[in-house]
Amino acid sequence: MALREILVVPDPVLKQVSTPVEVVDDDLRVLMDDMLETMYAAPGIGLAAIQVGVPKRVIVMDLAAPDTAPEPRYFVNPEILWASEDTAPYEEGCLSVPDIYDEVERPARVKLKYLNYQGEEVIEDAEGLYAVCIQHEMDHLKGVLFIDYLSRLKRDRAVAKVKKQVRAA
Ligand code: NI
Repeated sequence: MALREILVVPDPVLKQVSTPVEVVDDDLRVLMDDMLETMYAAPGIGLAAIQVGVPKRVIVMDLAAPDTAPEPRYFVNPEILWASEDTAPYEEGCLSVPDIYDEVERPARVKLKYLNYQGEEVIEDAEGLYAVCIQHEMDHLKGVLFIDYLSRLKRDRAVAKVKKQVRAA
């Protein structure tokens, strides 16, 4: 496994639309292993492949509480089959927009379909943090960031703050 560099705003690569994976093979599992390691090291709870510069429909996630056993999850070609009409707010953050947090309102529950690490199809209901995280990560596959839901003023301020951090690093 290897750590990959996480791209941050305003890197234009983050705006790219990711394409479906044709086959879940060992090469793809290397990517997923690297993404998981990179996400843990950051640390974060979710990461989309485009955040390490790979425009494929791949996501990794781990929502286990700190100090408990890891529960890695892998999503290839995820699709939302259904989303609830009721929504819930959550204070989101993103490894590509470090140290910025703001509230985003999304459907409270979704039903999703994806291929897992072995390439098997899974259909699952998600709610709570899982629903928030999978919708946030799936937005990355469309080139959308959580700050795109904020006012233009807040978004510009967030990008400026990240640029300043990068310069200072
Ligand atoms: Ni993100």
